[in-house]
Amino acid sequence: MSNPCSCSIIGTGSYMPKRVVTNNDLEKLVDTSDEWITSRTGIKERRIAAVDETTSDMASEAARRAMTSAGIRPEDLDLIIVATVTPDMFFPSTACFVQKKIGAINAVGFDISAACSGFLFALQTARHFINGGSRKTALVIGAEKLSSLINWEDRNTCILFGDGAGAIIVRFDDSTDAPGKVLSSVMGSDGNLAHLLSVPGGASAQPITFDNVLSRTNTIHMEGRETFKHAVTRMCQASEEALMQAGLKTTDVDLVIPHQANRRIISVIAERLGIPEERTFINLDKYGNTSAATIPVALDEASRSGRLKRGDILLLVAFGGGFTWASSVIAW
Ligand code: UT7
Repeated sequence: MSNPCSCSIIGTGSYMPKRVVTNNDLEKLVDTSDEWITSRTGIKERRIAAVDETTSDMASEAARRAMTSAGIRPEDLDLIIVATVTPDMFFPSTACFVQKKIGAINAVGFDISAACSGFLFALQTARHFINGGSRKTALVIGAEKLSSLINWEDRNTCILFGDGAGAIIVRFDDSTDAPGKVLSSVMGSDGNLAHLLSVPGGASAQPITFDNVLSRTNTIHMEGRETFKHAVTRMCQASEEALMQAGLKTTDVDLVIPHQANRRIISVIAERLGIPEERTFINLDKYGNTSAATIPVALDEASRSGRLKRGDILLLVAFGGGFTWASSVIAW
């Protein structure tokens, strides 16, 4: 086993579908308003994939951009992990479709299901493979086509979500000052609270029938207020734990890249951690909640927009269905 910090992010990429759906567009579908959505969530618009655009299509484009940014070829990859709750199919895994689309002939690929925490679960998994020495160069993706799980008649949920993909390349590097070093990772789950955020139908618990399609059990169901409270508590705890594991304090954090579910959640977390809100990255106004894709998309945007400086301490933190939560600290 090599040192626990032998793993660095060497490239990022993202892809967002072209079609923009604004809050005003949603006013025509359900009893809602731009004012309600903006004040309760911070979301102004979201991207929705084309009917024939799959999760693996978006993931593959994000992956190509990440490989270009890292300066590597598809053949250099030996591991592909895709975090998604909207796979192209039950099986094969979305990672196998990505492998085929990008030509990563030397990699092994599989998917991870941890809802909105999925990307950080995938990063932690890649980190274990790399620190353990069995893999050297991993493609870690968070990608979702949540529009395929939305009930467009439910105003509680349809205003929240969007589609998109983000990817990073993670590589073995045991030099102490390598850029993009992953300093720590924590993750947790509590299956007792699974019922608060789920897609109850469409899989083996409630296989697709005419009746359950009519009653929309195969779409996202969420107890918003309860989820909000747990999200705040767990994201704060996970952040503190990840910082402690890295030997750092909240005052060391240059930028928080949180899961983009609700601007109010991000504000409360920043306040509780004592981190000024200007040090949080927010792009949910443009994309809404893209589940596993939010953090890698935000990381890519932060990097490409010049917001990240070499050596910056980044705090990544997520919360999602399961419930699941996770946090990682990166020295950029
Ligand atoms: O990504 C995984 C983690 N997800 C989260 O962390 C999401 C956590 N939850 C939330 O972000 C918020 O709870 C929501 C944005 C989902 C909802 O905001 P809220 O302030 O908790 O609203 P609420 O659910 O308590 O609803 C307040 C009122 C209700 O009306 P009554 O019962 O007070 O008359 C809702 O019916 O707002 C109503 N409402 C809406 N009104 C206009 C709910 N959705 C809408 C809507 N437009 N789209």
